[in-house]
Amino acid sequence: MVSVRERIARLKNERNAVILAHNYCLPEVQDIADHVGDSLGLSIIAAKCDADVIVFCGVTFMAESAKILNPKKKVLMPEPYATCPMASMCSAEQIIDARKKHKDACIVGYVNTTASAKAEMDICCTSSNAVNIVSSMKEKDVIFVPDVNLGAYVRSKTPSKNVILWNGYCPVHQAITAQNILDMRSEHPEAIVIAHPECRSDVLETADMVGSTEKMIEFVRTSDAKEFIVATETGMEHRLRNGSGEKIFHFIPHALCSVMKMTSLSSVLKALENMEHEVLLTAETAERAKTPLEKMIELK
Ligand code: 13P
Ligand code: SF4
Repeated sequence: MVSVRERIARLKNERNAVILAHNYCLPEVQDIADHVGDSLGLSIIAAKCDADVIVFCGVTFMAESAKILNPKKKVLMPEPYATCPMASMCSAEQIIDARKKHKDACIVGYVNTTASAKAEMDICCTSSNAVNIVSSMKEKDVIFVPDVNLGAYVRSKTPSKNVILWNGYCPVHQAITAQNILDMRSEHPEAIVIAHPECRSDVLETADMVGSTEKMIEFVRTSDAKEFIVATETGMEHRLRNGSGEKIFHFIPHALCSVMKMTSLSSVLKALENMEHEVLLTAETAERAKTPLEKMIELK
């Protein structure tokens, strides 16, 4: 009998499709993907992709970004309801209001937002380039939307800026506490703590390294340390274990993003079989959201 993996591989060829998966996806989904990475890396790959079809395994804002950056491609989301809760914490209307309130400020927006919110931003950023992007803005006042924790982290690294924070957050990273880290440190005293900047400030203060999912992977691969406490979503374990030899990883067991776990091999297969669920955006929103995304990619 032909396995699901084989059927996916066959259809991928027939459709001239490429499969992109985020570092938090299920291991078996990462294993069939052509590229696995963080949100910045996947956006760059999507922008340059010359396949006819992009199957995006991740959450809605990522698939939308792929469509915005490469509008001629058909972008399919195997799980169209896999929506990052942070993306609903900042609307286009709220950004328009904030601009009226802070007339001298620019708007830097995390990519974990809807396409219509992006359309109102000056520039986008990801967790991997947020500090550089904010530093590069000519305005002193920067409204950073929507992640309060990433915004506070950026503020701590850009003292010459007045970073105005929003009140969004990632429920998964918000649920990681400094006490969780302290407890793990006392259990594993030799371990190095690496944390995603979506974690709360008191968690980041306990960390030896702070970075995006891809930066964490790079750090672990080049570090001499053997043991790590990883303050981010547990899906990272698969990427971290691949190519890290005998290194040992400790995760916070409740750090699990249910929307990132929705995409399965069978939903990828169905997406390719039925060419479903296509990401569709209005031409105006897509066009306006493209500028802040492209500016981000130019600056990286
Ligand atoms: P990265 O940009 O580090 O991949 O993170 C995306 C995300 O959603 C983290 O929760
Ligand atoms: Fe959104 Fe958090 Fe899940 Fe990332 S981990 S997709 S920010 S809910």
